[in-house]
Amino acid sequence: MPRKKLIAANWKMFKTPDEAVVFVRAFIPLVAHHRHAEIVLCPSPTLLPTVVEAARNHPIHIAAQNMHWLDQGAYTGETSPLQLKALGVTHVLIGHSERRQYFNETDESVNLKLKAALAHHLVPIVCVGEQLAEREANQTAEVLERQTSIALEGIDPAIATPLIIAYEPVWAIGTGRTATPEIAGDAHKIIRAQIANSLSTELAASTRILYGGSVKPDNTASLCALEDIDGALVGGASLDPASFAGIVANSAA
Ligand code: 13P
Repeated sequence: MPRKKLIAANWKMFKTPDEAVVFVRAFIPLVAHHRHAEIVLCPSPTLLPTVVEAARNHPIHIAAQNMHWLDQGAYTGETSPLQLKALGVTHVLIGHSERRQYFNETDESVNLKLKAALAHHLVPIVCVGEQLAEREANQTAEVLERQTSIALEGIDPAIATPLIIAYEPVWAIGTGRTATPEIAGDAHKIIRAQIANSLSTELAASTRILYGGSVKPDNTASLCALEDIDGALVGGASLDPASFAGIVANSAA
């Protein structure tokens, strides 16, 4: 089965509800004729109800940027899988490098969140990626294997089909410095091999691996043409509807 492309917009801590509605209204007609890719919008928590509503009845999925792994409890400032599901959220980003870098996300908490997402039938997009110093020290493979294997520890392959991984090299995020298709392709192969080791060869073949890090309309086609790149997780260039629609259009390999 060929892997369907998936293009996701990570809006990070940008946009008000009004701005989000303006985006969705402008964006929907721009992608109405594209059937080759699934589209996911990841707005910040306070925008989720508005964006779910604005995208209702359109083939656009809504993801949270983070969640706690427990159903409920005394965890001020956190959001649970049950709360996300009640809003109509279907996908969730887990372990984004900004969460790892600034909010103490660890490989172990990523693992707990992944288990919770799968248990609650939320589609998990697990982010992995090396920092610049790690790449320069030739530790990229080791870092990707560690992040992927700990994320997948104890995951039941029977329920792991929805899993999506995003390879986001930290040095390429928000820097304008995109990984070359060769660098990204190599990293995706390493991640796919680790999925085979941790879960199964079938899941390694069917799991979509997205690339993220300075994806723009004009570099999307060369990245998405690669066998192992199944779509993109887009930050800055996803904030404008025409730009993000251009990325969706150019991802058709
Ligand atoms: P940029 O596209 O702004 O580099 O951000 C990538 C990213 O972090 C997406 O999750």
